[in-house]
Amino acid sequence: MEKMGLWVGLVLLGGASTAFAQGNPSAGKEKAQVCGACHGEDGNSSAPIFPKIAGQHASYLAKQLHDFKTQRRPEPTMSALSEPLTDADIEDLAAYYSRQKIRIEKGPSNSAGEALYRTGNPATGVPACTGCHNPGGNGNPLAVFPQVNGQYAAYIEKTLRDFKSGARGNDANGMMRAIAGKMSEEEIRAVADYLSTLE
Ligand code: HEC
Ligand code: HEC
Repeated sequence: MEKMGLWVGLVLLGGASTAFAQGNPSAGKEKAQVCGACHGEDGNSSAPIFPKIAGQHASYLAKQLHDFKTQRRPEPTMSALSEPLTDADIEDLAAYYSRQKIRIEKGPSNSAGEALYRTGNPATGVPACTGCHNPGGNGNPLAVFPQVNGQYAAYIEKTLRDFKSGARGNDANGMMRAIAGKMSEEEIRAVADYLSTLE
């Protein structure tokens, strides 16, 4: 019996380090009041400089809040706002926003952006984005690959430029820095435009 208790304990420990703790979405809604000014009450931000966070994976949201807080992703506004958040606050906020529905932008699709997203640019070594972010743009919560469809083009452009310059460097193994580093300004604009309207 004692052996079994140890085994269960190890399984729980393993689970805690690989998966994210379950946050409480209603507690998260309360804690999100300060966030709404920029990100909108339901995570659909009112201006394109503020990323939409509605429907984003809880694992990715929690990682970003920890990264802002610890300056792994230094950004004056978000680092200051994340500083007082406890681990439980972060899990609750992530649980709340991940359960909201993202509002996809309306507009014509961008065919150059779509081609880059689906096949990359073999001439310059840009890989297909679908490999990690999925054909539908919904990413992969277990691998912590974010959802990228429906997001404002202006924010996608900014964050790709930040990866390219190294201003944003919180991507595991430099995955996105390596990719964005190979993208031209035109490709960044086209793929951002494409993703914003991808349903
Ligand atoms: C004063 C405006 C403002 C407020 C208030 C604010 N944010 Fe932000 N948030 C931003 C900006 C600007 C960015 C984009 C930073 C960048 O460009 O890297 C951002 C980025 C984020 C991101 C990263 C999104 C992504 O796709 O990587 C998350 C998650 C986030 N905010 C959550 C929150 C939460 C939770 C709160 C409340 C505790 C909050 N924010 C309050 C302005 C704000
Ligand atoms: C090898 C896997 C991989 C590939 C391929 C990949 N990405 Fe990513 N991408 C990631 C990871 C991981 C992150 C999250 C980094 C972090 O933890 O902050 C990310 C983040 C992003 C973000 C930031 C999302 C946000 O809300 O801030 C954008 C935009 C993005 N990728 C676009 C692209 C585009 C466009 C391509 C193709 C040209 C691409 N990615 C290819 C793994 C990948």
